Amino acid sequence: MKISVIGAGNVGASVASALVLREVADEIALVDIFGNVAAAKAIDLAQSAAVFGIDVKVKGGDDFSLLKDSDIVVITAGSPRKEGQTREDLLLKNAGIVKSSVENIVKFSPNAIIITVTNPLDVLNFVVYKVSGFDKKRIIGMAGELDSARLKFEIGQKTGLKNSEFNAHIIGSHNDDMLVLKENVSLNLDEASFNEVAHEAKTGGAKIVKLLGTSAYYAPGAAVAKMCEAIVKERDEWLSCCVVLDENLTCGRRVRLGKDGIKEIKELSQNEKEAVQKSQDDIKKNIEFLIQSKFF
Ligand code: NAI
Repeated sequence: MKISVIGAGNVGASVASALVLREVADEIALVDIFGNVAAAKAIDLAQSAAVFGIDVKVKGGDDFSLLKDSDIVVITAGSPRKEGQTREDLLLKNAGIVKSSVENIVKFSPNAIIITVTNPLDVLNFVVYKVSGFDKKRIIGMAGELDSARLKFEIGQKTGLKNSEFNAHIIGSHNDDMLVLKENVSLNLDEASFNEVAHEAKTGGAKIVKLLGTSAYYAPGAAVAKMCEAIVKERDEWLSCCVVLDENLTCGRRVRLGKDGIKEIKELSQNEKEAVQKSQDDIKKNIEFLIQSKFF
């Protein structure tokens, strides 16, 4: 099993580290335009495997042929938003980076499953779908597992319960319109407590940015590794992932993953159907913006 990661920054390196320590792959490649950074992190990661006696080869550099014959490729390459830059500027910039990443995946690993991580996640997962021309089962975005983990963290903080004692998940878009619904939490929280944990989960990413000056990476890395494990080990569990719903829309849903990618997408409840509309409208607006900008 070979898993490649494009972008050896904070998230890319954390993905690779989680993959090494969870023993998900026997070969890992890390590719970045800063070849020395990717090469150095690959050596460091290989040495972390040696600490635990784990058998995995890790390579890194700026040569995209390192991607060759990957089973899964994770795209984390991208630019964070800079001062004076609008959301649309960032969208166009990262869409360009993701497009060139996908062209290399098509060239070197035409049978791979692609996991998109770069933000804005939902619309860039759509870019991956359009540019690759791959079957939509092989295009999966990471956001829901991270957002769900943030919700679980907040519930744990509020109730004192352990992670293993309850479940909670989030679907919809990876922004303020994400769906945090009471029916998707396995505990009966009172209205005020629920509203509080929902708010904290939605703003969880921003809190880290404020403290750290950049976005989170350990939990995003863990979330990608969990998705890779579900694919490699054919785990029959429901995960929250961004999926291609039709020719004009991607959005977060509950899915089961396996060796061929997405095995099943869970039907929405009536409540979810109504609540997800705002998420979907926002994603469609971004897709429309890319089309109007003649991106495709
Ligand atoms: P970072 O700045 O630490 O790393 C990005 C890396 O991408 C850099 O090493 C850069 O050299 C590389 N890169 C840029 N253009 C490239 C290209 N054309 N080919 C190969 N590599 C290229 O950023 P970080 O923190 O790792 O975040 C990466 C992306 O992930 C951002 O867009 C961020 O918003 C997103 N993200 C998404 C999450 C999600 O839930 N979907 C969670 C956290 C971050």
